[in-house]
Amino acid sequence: MRMDVFTLLPEVMETYLHTSILGRAQTAGLLDVKLHNIRDYTTDRHRTTDDEPFGGGGGMVMKPEPIFAAVETILGSGLGEVPVILLTPQGRLFSQKVAMELSQLPRLALICGRYEGVDERIRQYLATDELSIGDYVLTGGEIPALTVIDAVARLIPGVLGDSEAMNKDSHTKGLLEHPHYTRPSNFRGWEVPEVLLSGDHGRIDAWRHQQSLKRTIIRRPDLLREAHLSEHDQAIIAKMIEDKEVRLEDEEKKKEKVKSKKWKMENGK
Ligand code: ADE
Repeated sequence: MRMDVFTLLPEVMETYLHTSILGRAQTAGLLDVKLHNIRDYTTDRHRTTDDEPFGGGGGMVMKPEPIFAAVETILGSGLGEVPVILLTPQGRLFSQKVAMELSQLPRLALICGRYEGVDERIRQYLATDELSIGDYVLTGGEIPALTVIDAVARLIPGVLGDSEAMNKDSHTKGLLEHPHYTRPSNFRGWEVPEVLLSGDHGRIDAWRHQQSLKRTIIRRPDLLREAHLSEHDQAIIAKMIEDKEVRLEDEEKKKEKVKSKKWKMENGK
């Protein structure tokens, strides 16, 4: 998959894109992210990329000419076919579902805004879509663009190793993931749930699925409304509510805190 990113700060994004999983994906030829500095497409002596807003008011606005020139030069005949996504807090909310849609595409372009915003004509006549990564305002679109690239890239077949790919599933189903544990099985007296040490994969899978449902009800009930729950899942949830397991979570949190405090006192921390 090819991604073209238009930014004033390519150096901020460089390291992240060449490290770890994204770096490996690019070396393996599964992903090709090209960074383009918008300033290279200015034509004046001062290489100006922003200007004061018409009508006054504070802040600066990114000029349309260099952004149009950059995108038109790089996309060439692809213009009109390749989605051009503007990162902006006013865009539609980015989610795992949107990441899945984008991961099906062979190519996309991302425009990172800075300053107070970009000239409206970029949104009207160049961008084909606008994405926001959440209801908060960052100083620029670089972190949002990295967020989109990362979430999309890990869905491209072959980008994640086998074991990592398995984990990917649970969020895709619209549920939060179950808890994870690794060695040691006893850390500061805090034990790993017995079922995970049992070697019984049927029981382990059932426990993980139940934990996943439980976490989602407690932390993100809004996700459950969207998730396609089987009758079996609905029965598990009904039983958890009946057994008051869900309400007990608060109690469990309190107990965990007490245990942690106790350990600190005993160990002079
Ligand atoms: N630029 C600034 N804040 C942003 C956000 N929340 N999402 C996307 N782009 C942004």
